[in-house]
Amino acid sequence: MDTNRLSKKIQTVLNSQMTKEAEAAQIYLSYGCWADSEGFGGIANYFFRHCQEEREHMMKFMQYILERGGTVKVEAIKAPPANPKNLQDCFEKTFKHEVENTTAIYNIVNLAHEEKDWATYNFGQWFVKEQIEEEKLVMGLLDRLKIAGGPKASDESLFALDMQLGKEPDSATLARDVAVEKP
Ligand SMILES: [Fe+2]
Ligand SMILES: [Fe+2]
Repeated sequence: MDTNRLSKKIQTVLNSQMTKEAEAAQIYLSYGCWADSEGFGGIANYFFRHCQEEREHMMKFMQYILERGGTVKVEAIKAPPANPKNLQDCFEKTFKHEVENTTAIYNIVNLAHEEKDWATYNFGQWFVKEQIEEEKLVMGLLDRLKIAGGPKASDESLFALDMQLGKEPDSATLARDVAVEKP
């Protein structure tokens, strides 16, 4: 008796997303190492924490596939891209990466909707929400770097930014949550 509750297509996209999350973890690990070697210990720490979050996302996909009686395929992870040129480049690439990931999540949700796989659709919503938060966090990084002087930021202002990010909490407060949960 076949107890797999996932269609072939859904199983394939979920497996590939699991690998994508692992890839994101590797990218942030490499950015963290780069930032640390550039002297930005706070920013390095920020990326290391994010690396951990992406690993947790990978595990979430893995657990969901197993829960639905599907087959998990652990695949090779691509090597992270070359080191960023500077902080601006680093944050811009991080933002682009998160947006690409959001698109991949939307594709899963779209497919689940098409197939009327409401379990996967519901599972995917957690990631839709998570991506809002992740994009917001990186937008915040870009904003603060801009205030610090952008590409022309002085060493002092970068130092202050680095100190600040080292102390930052792991998640962003979303306007929607503030309005809904703490009116
Ligand atoms: Fe993720
Ligand atoms: Fe992410």
